[in-house]
Amino acid sequence: GTGKFFVGGNWKCNGTRDSITKLVADLNDAKLETDVDVVVAPPYIYIDQVKQSLTDRIEISAQNSWIGKGGAFTGEISVEQLVDIGCKWVILGHSERRHIIGEDDQFIGKKAAYALSQNLKMKAFADSISNWTDVVIAYEPVWAIGTGKVATPQQAQEVHLAVRDWLKKNVSAEVASSTRIIYGGSVNGNNSSELAKQEDIDGFLVGGASLKGPEFAVIVNSVT
Ligand code: G3H
Repeated sequence: GTGKFFVGGNWKCNGTRDSITKLVADLNDAKLETDVDVVVAPPYIYIDQVKQSLTDRIEISAQNSWIGKGGAFTGEISVEQLVDIGCKWVILGHSERRHIIGEDDQFIGKKAAYALSQNLKMKAFADSISNWTDVVIAYEPVWAIGTGKVATPQQAQEVHLAVRDWLKKNVSAEVASSTRIIYGGSVNGNNSSELAKQEDIDGFLVGGASLKGPEFAVIVNSVT
């Protein structure tokens, strides 16, 4: 693996004030290994609640951001607003936003460039990146997302290595060796440690299992 492990919990469009209060309490109670970066991504409207109640040990991500500075863009949330409310990260280019909402490479590239320009770090792939130090790449086979069908450690390793080779050829050897490439797709408390043993898997982006605090903690702790 490369550098510190990274485990993100993507809550997607799930939760209520009550269920999130419980999830935060479970996360606050969990004993998390020190050697892992841990981030959770609540729905926008609960970010402030989570920021007010969650331990500082866990950083907060948004699940999306607007492509540029805020203004007359009904229904959108700007990077400046995310930074203002205490978000450190944003997930961009998630396959659900590509396939269900129709975002494309160009649109995602714009968002990525703008988010990075405002010092928001990024999970996911994007073009138009000049500073790679704030980027984490997530590989998620679409057939594994929310299906309970996890990639085998060998399948995931093969793709992670290919992504790293791509970075080496298209960006630089240094970026290839220092950028964290995380796996997503039906990761749970039973399969995470085998996946984490693979050379080029540097962490996880967890969906369903991140809604259960104790199981999410098991995943975080399994990577060390
Ligand atoms: O962002 C997370 C991924 O889409 C994985 O979701 O763990 O529910 O399969 P999942």
